[in-house]
Amino acid sequence: MDNFLIRGGRPLHGTVDISGSKNSSLPILAATLMADGPTTLHGVPRLSDIDSMLLLLKELGCRIERRSPPSLGDSGKIDFAGRPALNGPLEIEVVDATNLECHYDLVKTMRASVCALGPMLAKRGRVYFSIPGGCAIGDRPIDLHQRGLEKLGATFRREGGYIVGEVPGGPGGRLKGATLYLGGARGPTVLGTINVMCAATLADGVTRIVGAACEPEVADCARMLNRMGAKISGAGSPELVIHGVERLTGVSHTVIPDRIEAGTFMLAAAITGGELTLRNCNLDHLIAVLDVFEEAGLQVLRPDPRIDEVIVSCPDGIKPAEMTTQPYPGFPTDIQAQLMAALSLANGASVITERIFPDRFTHVGELNRMGARILKEGPTAVIRGVGANGLKAAPVMCSDLRASAALVLAALAATGETCLDRVYHIDRGYEKIEQKLIAVGAQIERLDEQSAKSREAA
Ligand code: EPZ
Repeated sequence: MDNFLIRGGRPLHGTVDISGSKNSSLPILAATLMADGPTTLHGVPRLSDIDSMLLLLKELGCRIERRSPPSLGDSGKIDFAGRPALNGPLEIEVVDATNLECHYDLVKTMRASVCALGPMLAKRGRVYFSIPGGCAIGDRPIDLHQRGLEKLGATFRREGGYIVGEVPGGPGGRLKGATLYLGGARGPTVLGTINVMCAATLADGVTRIVGAACEPEVADCARMLNRMGAKISGAGSPELVIHGVERLTGVSHTVIPDRIEAGTFMLAAAITGGELTLRNCNLDHLIAVLDVFEEAGLQVLRPDPRIDEVIVSCPDGIKPAEMTTQPYPGFPTDIQAQLMAALSLANGASVITERIFPDRFTHVGELNRMGARILKEGPTAVIRGVGANGLKAAPVMCSDLRASAALVLAALAATGETCLDRVYHIDRGYEKIEQKLIAVGAQIERLDEQSAKSREAA
């Protein structure tokens, strides 16, 4: 398992290209299972979670090709407002629709494979889906997914660790449109909304989803589906209306920028006292985030309103702030850990409350090992800032994707050399993170386990 060795205390300066959104790419990849003919996706990042989803699609009979990025001189597409694409386009086409099993080995590595449920039911009429396990941020139920799909006529039974989902009449049958409420005790479900939305595009009749998730990733998937021939309205709002159609055909689509990566790099500028220019950054997806960041002392400028490029700094140091995570458009739970790392350096006390995943605090112990003073009480953490130079290097362990990002940020600010263990967690959701950080002045090195041990021994 790889480690990162980070020598902190260096302000970051330069330009970072934000990648395409992981959380938009994953459900969009699953939705291609419903298309007749090839779908070409631009801006899909190279991440281990994406690799897991591509493996699942291959198992489910898809031909997948990642073409090399077009060079500037090519007549081909260049992504992100005229800049060279970070990655070449992905082409996906279903060539064999006989396999109906989403195997445990694939589902256990990535919970988001659950977003294959809706497309598989809609297109193939039956799916064998291994029950997803929990993860470091807490239990990850899929009861809302199931309940929503059942309202469309799907039935589910348990068989040896698998959930077997079926449409009325099995393969060849179709789901039936319905009006349904999808909200749960902790608010809407993002992937649950996308699952039911996908299933409804090929159902007979009209579906109304009330209590839908409003995340930009839902709207991005709906945009692609409508270009495939679906009839979805209201995506991005709490109520969706979907008129079922006979078929969907493959299209070309560019995924939206990753708003979570953008928020993470904004905090990298702040926590190191530097200044970063972020390209391919859509501020419209970060309104609530910018509200909290402004309270914490960050300055985010957008020189030219015609392009998605922003300049981020924290000229007067990090200030205390209060934040509660909420469903979109509220502050996203996926930036909670990273904000906590930054507030650890504030000159005063901050309060963070986690309403989406109340157990999402595995980063607290590790940040405290680095000198932070964080007290967790149930879903709330009080962060008593230790000042701009208050964090000290220490060996820490990554436990989940966003907690790992928080530890990278803390290590970039800490005095000394921090060793982060198990960085495979961060590879799930941050494309080329060490290359992007080195390009703006960070001293970060990826070591395999052997080199890390011999480095320690030396
Ligand atoms: C998506 O997960 C994101 N993942 C998560 O990002 C993100 O944290 C989460 O939305 C919330 O914004 C992807 O998009 C791939 P939910 P999802 O269903 O859809 C409860 C990251 O770091 N719930 O919106 O699986 C659930 O327990 C990842 O990039 C049920 O009770 O999350 C949670 O408390 C982590 N029953 C709340 O709803 C269900 O059937 C929101 O979960 C489904 C969810």
